[in-house]
Amino acid sequence: MPAPSIIFPADPLNPRRPDPHFAWEARLLRELGGEHHLVDHDALLAGLPDEAVRRVPPGSGPLWYRGWMLPSARYAEFAAALTARGGNLLTSAPGYAAAHELPGWYGVFEGATPPSVWIPSTGGAAPGPRELAEAAARLGGSGPAIVKDYVKSRKHEWHEACYVPELADLSAVCRVVGRFVELQGEFLAGGVVLRRYEEFERAGCAADGKSNGTSDGPDGPDDAADGPDGRAVEARVWWLDGRPVLVGPHPDSPRRHVEPDLTEVPALVRRLGCRFVTTDLASRADGSGWRVVEVGDGQVSDLPHGIDASGLLASLIAS
Ligand SMILES: Nc1ncnc2c1ncn2[C@@H]1O[C@H](COP(=O)(O)OP(=O)(O)O)[C@@H](O)[C@H]1O
Ligand SMILES: [Mg+2]
Repeated sequence: MPAPSIIFPADPLNPRRPDPHFAWEARLLRELGGEHHLVDHDALLAGLPDEAVRRVPPGSGPLWYRGWMLPSARYAEFAAALTARGGNLLTSAPGYAAAHELPGWYGVFEGATPPSVWIPSTGGAAPGPRELAEAAARLGGSGPAIVKDYVKSRKHEWHEACYVPELADLSAVCRVVGRFVELQGEFLAGGVVLRRYEEFERAGCAADGKSNGTSDGPDGPDDAADGPDGRAVEARVWWLDGRPVLVGPHPDSPRRHVEPDLTEVPALVRRLGCRFVTTDLASRADGSGWRVVEVGDGQVSDLPHGIDASGLLASLIAS
């Protein structure tokens, strides 16, 4: 089988070049002897997949994608348009949805990730109080929680649209979920997810009392990201065919040194059955171990700035 090529989004201003966000990956790929093609991301989002893949040569064979997140339905159109041109995206549309959306991976990771419930979206409106009360009850009915959709949170609006201090306070649940749905607008993916909040290590409050931070000053970018909003310091692990091909920091805190315990994760990743995925891991504040905060499709997970991705890209084109 020929070596896979990688498809990157084209620069909207210069369609013959990779989008500036992915240019360094494309350059590194070329240095490693790999080949890339370009896709028009805006056309994909607009539901024009044939137009989007116009620059991918016919008969391109096995393909990986490294680009912006796509809704699962758009990814399915993308995969079908490539198939029609003799290309083969190595992550199938069902595989993409399984890793990309929480309900797709939750069943496999249950027990290793915070308990979660979800309410499928019914056209844009926020779930009502009765549905939310029922969902909160399924989650145990009390204690703090996190709100997100099947794919993303609004972690930057932590108090307004992400963190629920007490599930038993139904008006607070309704307020945070309502604001989350309003801010997500047409970009709400799938539905609303409620997750039990767990206390993770944050910058400067490692369980052993030592800071796990780098030498950033108090105003450094990492501290800004991990600050008073309660967000954890995470490791992002990149898995190809069940093996960790890159273990590094999360893009939100790219200079953080992380050493996650991976004892239990490989079996879960293999059971999920997707070839190329990421897992974001956080360490419990009480030191009782690592938890899977999130699973993602490796094709659309962001790579931390400045990380050495040569092993990852070399593995992709050797797979
Ligand atoms: N169940 C949870 N308990 C504690 N913190 C959480 C929980 N879920 C998410 N977080 C925090 O919120 C952040 C955003 O949640 P995440 O599920 O990773 O959404 P996103 O896709 O927006 O990154 C995480 O990086 C973590 O710091
Ligand atoms: Mg995340």
